[in-house]
Amino acid sequence: MDKLIIKGGRRLKGTVMISGAKNAALPLLAATLLTDATCILKNVPALSDIDTMMKILTELGKEIARTGNVVTVKSGDSKKCRAPYELVSTMRASICVLGALIAKRKRAEVSFPGGCVIGPRPIDLHLKGLKDLGADISVKGGYIIGNGSGIRGNRIYLGGHFGSSVLATANVLMAAVLARGKTIIENAACEPEIVDLAGFLKKMGAKIYGETSHRIEVVGVKKLHGATHSLISDRIEAGTYMLAAAITKGDIFLKNAVYDNLLALIDKLKEAGVRIEKRGGGIRVRYVKPLKPVDVTTLPYPGFPTDIQAQMMALMAVTDGISVITEKVYPERFIHVSELNRMGAQIVLEGPIAIIKGVKGLSGAPVMASDLRASASLVLAGLVAKGATEISRIYHLDRGYENLENKLKKIGADIKRVKE
Ligand code: EPZ
Repeated sequence: MDKLIIKGGRRLKGTVMISGAKNAALPLLAATLLTDATCILKNVPALSDIDTMMKILTELGKEIARTGNVVTVKSGDSKKCRAPYELVSTMRASICVLGALIAKRKRAEVSFPGGCVIGPRPIDLHLKGLKDLGADISVKGGYIIGNGSGIRGNRIYLGGHFGSSVLATANVLMAAVLARGKTIIENAACEPEIVDLAGFLKKMGAKIYGETSHRIEVVGVKKLHGATHSLISDRIEAGTYMLAAAITKGDIFLKNAVYDNLLALIDKLKEAGVRIEKRGGGIRVRYVKPLKPVDVTTLPYPGFPTDIQAQMMALMAVTDGISVITEKVYPERFIHVSELNRMGAQIVLEGPIAIIKGVKGLSGAPVMASDLRASASLVLAGLVAKGATEISRIYHLDRGYENLENKLKKIGADIKRVKE
């Protein structure tokens, strides 16, 4: 297993290339199950989660080839319908093959997704939405068994305890495009990744309207054809580098970052005193003066992304004053707090609320990565800590950040990956 060693205290300066979005790649790869024709996806990042999805599609009979960041998906044996426990249990997002299998192959056997350190992640909305489309869904031997022979359009309310669900919307959308008649998804998620999915499906011949809103309309079609599509850039990766610029008092240009997909974060960083400018083909982020503490509440898009919460906390941990972060999407998503406190932060938890008392500085320490975004917050903390920070279990980072240490090194960080 690898670990990262970071020596803190350097200002980051220069240009960083933002990769394609992991959370777009996963549902768009699953959407290739909706046709037997060839699909080409471009700007696909090299990440272990993408490899897992490609393994699942191969299990489901697809022939996949990758050249750099271009993935070609051809049809092989389209009778297969089983997504095995061995793969699905390693990545929750595998669940998003369910809707496509039910709609196209009329049958699905998808392992129930495993637990997750960021908190309970039920799939009740996924199953409710697919049942509302007329799919016959049951659970047997740890597998979700779906039969889609009778799916037809319907009006579906897809709101949960914490608002809309990204992958439940993706699953229902992918089933509805081949369901007879019209579907309306009320309280749908409208994350940029959902808009990108709808864009790809429309290129395949689907009829979809309103995907940038919380009400999506779909008119089912008999068949979809192949398509070529380039993924949107990763707003969560971009947000992480924006916070790296702020926390190291740096000046970074994020090439390919999309300003309009990051408005909630930009609003909070500007409130804290960071200078942020939309520039040709990207975003420039500059530290110009001592920052102010800001309060943040995570919400579904266009609210403040929960996937940036931990990284924002690292910044607030070294910003003079008191700030409050309220986690309204995953109320238990605070596994990074104890590791940040190990580095000298002063963070107290009260249920879904973190109260952060900014400190003058952090000190390097051995810390452990636990999940993707929590690990990113430890990297940010390590970039400003005095001395060396050793982050172990960085396979969590490799799931969602392409080439992290080289991108950081290129803009001036003292970081290296070593064998444990
Ligand atoms: C997507 O997960 C992202 N993953 C997550 O990013 C992200 O944290 C999440 O959306 C929220 O923005 C991918 O896109 C692959 P949800 P998803 O269903 O779709 C509850 C990362 O770091 N809920 O929108 O699984 C759920 O428990 C990952 O890249 C139900 O109650 O998240 C949560 O509290 C981590 N019932 C809330 O809704 C359901 O059936 C939002 O979850 C489904 C969800």
